[in-house]
Amino acid sequence: MAQTWKKSDWRNKPRVQMPDYLDADALAAVEGQLSKYPPLVFAGEVRKLKSSLAAVSRGEGFLLQGGDCAESFSEFSADGIRDTFKVMLQMAMVLTYGAKVPVVKVGRMAGQFAKPRSAPTEVKDGVELPSYRGDIINELDFTPEARIPNPNKMLQAYTQSAASLNLLRAFSTGGYADVHQVHSWTLGFTEGEKAAQYRELANNISDALDFMSAAGVTQETAHTLQSVDFYVSHESLLLEYEEALCRIDSTSGLPVAGSGHMIWIGDRTRQPDGAHVEFARGVQNPIGLKCGPTTTPEDLKVLMNKLNPENEAGRLTLIARFGAGNVGEHLPRLIKTVKEEGANVVWTCDPMHGNTIKSSSGYKTRPFESVLREVREFFEIHSAEDTIPGGVHFEMTGQDVTECTGGVRAVTDEDLSDRYHTACDPRLNASQSLELAFLVSEELSARRNEKKRAAV
Ligand code: PEP
Ligand code: CO
Repeated sequence: MAQTWKKSDWRNKPRVQMPDYLDADALAAVEGQLSKYPPLVFAGEVRKLKSSLAAVSRGEGFLLQGGDCAESFSEFSADGIRDTFKVMLQMAMVLTYGAKVPVVKVGRMAGQFAKPRSAPTEVKDGVELPSYRGDIINELDFTPEARIPNPNKMLQAYTQSAASLNLLRAFSTGGYADVHQVHSWTLGFTEGEKAAQYRELANNISDALDFMSAAGVTQETAHTLQSVDFYVSHESLLLEYEEALCRIDSTSGLPVAGSGHMIWIGDRTRQPDGAHVEFARGVQNPIGLKCGPTTTPEDLKVLMNKLNPENEAGRLTLIARFGAGNVGEHLPRLIKTVKEEGANVVWTCDPMHGNTIKSSSGYKTRPFESVLREVREFFEIHSAEDTIPGGVHFEMTGQDVTECTGGVRAVTDEDLSDRYHTACDPRLNASQSLELAFLVSEELSARRNEKKRAAV
């Protein structure tokens, strides 16, 4: 990493998608306060995640990243966090069973507040107001006051993130995530085909645990089965917040983003000479980079060199989000660039952001079929290119929402209004998330079998 990098250097670069705070003194006061607060995550955890992601880049692990599009202050609850955590554990179980490799679990949680928007303003009934940019910046209500960016919201976002992490850490190590609980994680699919499939898988896992116990592997000797590593991530969009939480790792003497274990750069803020790339390049955390239809091989080359000049495995995750039907057109040229550069990356698939449409009932939605199709295409291309499909990135929740259409419990356009709670993009509900995990698991086990056959 460039020795001369400073956490404030992004201020000299062109910035996009960031608010203009009107009250400079209020902003400075918040920044000062946040920079004295403890970091939310610690350098040792960040290093551990990076080494797990390095294993993923070699095909020795699989990344499951998921959570809200935007966390919100009003929807914040212990039950909400518990349910999303629970669904992610279930999905991880299904994936581990298919892939036979460890699943690295990373929530879009405890910091996923700031949102890039496709337009700076929003018009409703002839009234034009600045767009909502996430609860860390302004408010969703359609009034002029609500849309004014307020720096004090950063303090509330910090507090909510700290409380979320506290709960997640307790769930991860306090017995809740013990694999022996595999049956009790049932949620959102107490009936139907997928529920039966999950129960069968849980039975198989219980059998394997009984066998291990009979063979002398006791609960005391199998610590790794009783706890889980769970990490948090968010888009590092609001750079005043990120800078204020940046800390020096006392072990390495290098800067670490203290706001979350992994941070990513969005599709709208990945300008190679922009502020967001400048900030991310200087911190030690694993970095995600969204790659969309407009990502050129030239830009990708520059970005990989800037963000990972040492070509460190686990540092860079490329999050492909092209939309169903478009993967074949875009992914191969980016894979070619990565191959030419000999770059170590984790390839992961975000089948959400290229598949957002407006439903006939007026809601922003994502057809489950398109989500599935993009995932399948991602696997097909990696199979053809003989590269590693390293993970998936979903907008999802443990709640039984009706935001994406389709799935085995068939949410229709008309159903969307029933439980449409997202503050931003539509999320998969618990049942749709699990269904997707089964599909990915099947893809992974088919791939394993293919490799095995090729090896004999
Ligand atoms: C997101 O992940 O919520 C997001 C805005 O994605 P993208 O930058 O890929 O559009
Ligand atoms: Co989103």
